[in-house]
Amino acid sequence: MTIRFASSTDPRPRLVARLIVEGSLPADLGDTVREAATASRFSGKPGQVFESFAALPNGLTRLALAGIGKPGAPDRLAALERAGGALVARFLTSGETALAIDFAESGLTADEAAAVLLGARLRGWRYDVYKTRQSADQQVSLHAVIAIDAPEGTQSLWQTEAALAEGIEFTRELVTEPANVLYPASFVDRCRARFAGTGIDVVVLTGDDLAALGMGALLGVAQGSVREARVLALRWKGRAGARPTAFVGKGVTFDSGGISIKPAGGMEDMKWDMGGAGAVAGALLTLALRKAEADVIGVVGLVENMPDGNAQRPGDVVTSLSGQTIEVINTDAEGRLVLCDVLTWVQRTYAPGTIIDLATLTGAIIVSLGHEYAGMFANDDLLASQLDAAGKASGDKLWRFPLGAAYDKLIDSAIADMKNVGPRYGGSITAAQFLQRFIDDGVAWAHLDIAGTVWADKPGTTHDKGATGFGVRLLDRYVRDVLEG
Ligand code: BES
Ligand code: MN
Ligand code: ZN
Repeated sequence: MTIRFASSTDPRPRLVARLIVEGSLPADLGDTVREAATASRFSGKPGQVFESFAALPNGLTRLALAGIGKPGAPDRLAALERAGGALVARFLTSGETALAIDFAESGLTADEAAAVLLGARLRGWRYDVYKTRQSADQQVSLHAVIAIDAPEGTQSLWQTEAALAEGIEFTRELVTEPANVLYPASFVDRCRARFAGTGIDVVVLTGDDLAALGMGALLGVAQGSVREARVLALRWKGRAGARPTAFVGKGVTFDSGGISIKPAGGMEDMKWDMGGAGAVAGALLTLALRKAEADVIGVVGLVENMPDGNAQRPGDVVTSLSGQTIEVINTDAEGRLVLCDVLTWVQRTYAPGTIIDLATLTGAIIVSLGHEYAGMFANDDLLASQLDAAGKASGDKLWRFPLGAAYDKLIDSAIADMKNVGPRYGGSITAAQFLQRFIDDGVAWAHLDIAGTVWADKPGTTHDKGATGFGVRLLDRYVRDVLEG
């Protein structure tokens, strides 16, 4: 979806939207439209769209009214995003190619107008590259949103929001691609292509590098797959400073469970077990495109978890890069095995002061929180409160869970330093305790379990069903408010 800016004197498309404050239909709409809207129970609530045709002075217009709620309502920006999203959802396959949004009488500020446009752009994203037989009326027709008479300053704010949208869309693309197309090496290729010319520094470790380093935990997961593992490090250095901030992502491009194989039903979902890595890549893209004044490293561990004659077995003991040994009780608890070596490597290589990892780590977090919140675990209250605030402001919401010695004890092993799973209950917490064993003293660390929020089975306000892009807005907001603020 392209967003363009125009003035009221420019030629406008046939489809024009007006933004309507709840409970006040403007008189200039004319009696017929006002009657029809009221009769259809359109009152201007956020998310409502009313469609009509009107003979206006500049020709026959396909007129859309989009509710924006009441000024001063809490979550005002979210309501405006929703209005933009609802408009695009309604007209995406309508046959119209462009939608004008008339801001002239809207009374919105620049940041409010930018929120409408962001909602419109995000809701308009679709990935139809594998659909070769769509009939004309199923195909997306709407490709442009034209902001008419947007408030002063909207266009420059939009530069920043467009960078955010690019990052979210890149994440959605990575998450949506099937595992035969997107595997460790091709994930790297796609990033290299996308990051060319952005100023992002790219470092890639291949299988031999990982073996030479001694990433035994990560390689143990990868050894059952014909797809060779990779570690990809991206650096956006928009500011010289003491210690950088690191974002770390779980990039299991397909999780069959390995020898502890998953049931067939729903296994196809495990193509998106790289959602953490996707969010990290998308966030770095956003930071580079908007030239953020921050020094951020994004590192992702990329593997495929498969069962075969060379796959690791339950009971195997592997030696992690940190030197700590791990008894692999369940080969399906593979994400923590990948992350632990990446966490050690990022600390040794870049000495970050803060680490935020994102991972589709446990089904248990979905049992706890459903699809509304991601789980947050942190060893630092300040970082937790900053992320909580970023979650609230961005809409990528977080809910904090506990950590503690009593949980940590649950992953002690009889034969090795630790085992990779705990008892049945509290599975998200014991997974986080496992990761914490790889965090050095003095490093502020948060782990975000995003298993419930990466993929949506039904459309939301700013996404269709499918990949949500969760995490990009959160990380971007954290950088804006904490690192740049
Ligand atoms: N990738 C899964 C977690 C997951 C499950 C993400 C469902 C999204 C939807 C992870 O690797 C996994 O398999 N975790 C196991 C851990 C268990 C073996 C301790 C799980 O949650 O069942
Ligand atoms: Mn698994
Ligand atoms: Zn997994």
